[in-house]
Amino acid sequence: MHRRKIKEKIHWLGAVDWDRRLFDSLIPLPDGTTYNAYLVEGSEKTVLLDTVDPPMTDRLMAQLAGVSRIDYIVSHHAEQDHSGAIPRVLEQFPEAKIVVSPKAKGMLIDLLRIPENAFVIMQDGETLSLGDKTLKSIHTPWVHWPETMVTYLEEDRILFSCDFFGSHIATADLFVTDQGRVYEAAKRYFAEIMMPFRSVIAKNMEKLKEYDIQMIAPSHGQIYDRPVWIMDAYRDWVTGAPRNLVVLPFVSMHDSTRQLVDHLVSALVEHGVRVELFNLAVTDIGKLAMALVDAATIVVGVPTVLAGPHPLAAYATLLANALRPKTQFLSIIGSYGWGGKTVETLAGMIPNLKVEVLETVLCKGVPSENDFKALDRLARTIAQKHRENGFK
Ligand code: FEO
Repeated sequence: MHRRKIKEKIHWLGAVDWDRRLFDSLIPLPDGTTYNAYLVEGSEKTVLLDTVDPPMTDRLMAQLAGVSRIDYIVSHHAEQDHSGAIPRVLEQFPEAKIVVSPKAKGMLIDLLRIPENAFVIMQDGETLSLGDKTLKSIHTPWVHWPETMVTYLEEDRILFSCDFFGSHIATADLFVTDQGRVYEAAKRYFAEIMMPFRSVIAKNMEKLKEYDIQMIAPSHGQIYDRPVWIMDAYRDWVTGAPRNLVVLPFVSMHDSTRQLVDHLVSALVEHGVRVELFNLAVTDIGKLAMALVDAATIVVGVPTVLAGPHPLAAYATLLANALRPKTQFLSIIGSYGWGGKTVETLAGMIPNLKVEVLETVLCKGVPSENDFKALDRLARTIAQKHRENGFK
C-alpha cells in the first residue's frame, strides 16, 4: 500500500498484516493487524512517528521513496513492532535523530543496538518545533511498557498514540468505518496488554483531558476521526464499576464438571446474573480476557487430573492473575476421582487478584443432589453480592 494522506502534510505509512494470527506467541489476532507509522512534514523539519514490525520494513522503505530528508524519528514505544525498522530508516536517513522518552533510550539501545548519540530525549510536556507544526510529548507510562509516550500535534489537534487506543484489525480503511467492530477489537487489545496497568492508565487518561483531541492516530488499526467514543470506552474499562457478570472459564473431562457448570449457569440466570462461559478446550483466550474487563465474579470450573487442576484451568487462572481485572469475587467448582489439591493449587495462583473467595463446590465423581444445592447457594450468594455492590 502507498502512503496515504490524512491531512495536508500528514500521511499514514506502514503495513497491513492480513495474515498474522498470533502476537508475542500468545495473543490471538483473529483479524490480523496493522503497524502504522506517520510522516509529518513541517515547514522546516520532517518527522517520522514510529516505524513497523521488522518483516514489514521493505514496505515502509518503499513508502519513504521520494522523501529527501527525515530530521526526527519519534519512537513512542520501544517494542519492536513499532521500533524494529528504525535501524533501516537510519541507514537511509543518517541525519535523523530518534526522539524518545528518557526510559526508551536505554531500551532501544538494548533491543536494537542503536548508537547512543542518535537520541534526543523529550521530557514530559516538552515541545519540538517542525516550523509551522509543533509536536508535544506527553508521557503515558505503562501502555504497556514503562517508557511509553504519545505525541500531540498542536496545530492539527491529532494525538499519535501508538498502542494506546489501538486495535488489531487488518483493514484497507484508513479511518474507523465500523465502530462496533473497532470497539470489540480495541477492548480485546486493552484487556490483553493494558488491563494490568489500569491505575496508571487512569492517570494517563486524566492527563489527556486538557487537550482538544480531534483525531487519534494509533499504531495498530484504524484512525479515529471522531475519537470521543473510544476515550469514553477506555474510561469505562479503566475506572468503571464491574458489571453484574460472572465469567466462567471451565474444562471438563468426563462431563461431571460440565454438569456443575450448566447447573450454576441456570441458577445464576434465574437470579438475574449475566454469565459468559468459556470452554477452555476450544476458547479464544482473547475473548476470555475481554470478558474479564467487566466481570464482577470469576468462577473456575475445573476437574482434577494428576492430583491437581487440569492444566487448561491452571493456564486460565494464571492468565486472570496476570491480567488483574477489577473482579471482586471468585469461586472454584469442579470434580475429582479420588483426591488431590486442586483448590489449594489454584488459590495459590492468584496473588494479584484482590478478590473475596466464595464457597467452593467440589464433587467426587458425578454431582449429587447436595452438590447441586451447594451450587444454588453459590448462585444466590453471587447475586446478593452483586446487588449489594450495585453492579448493573
Ligand atoms: Fe504494538 Fe506494545 O507494541
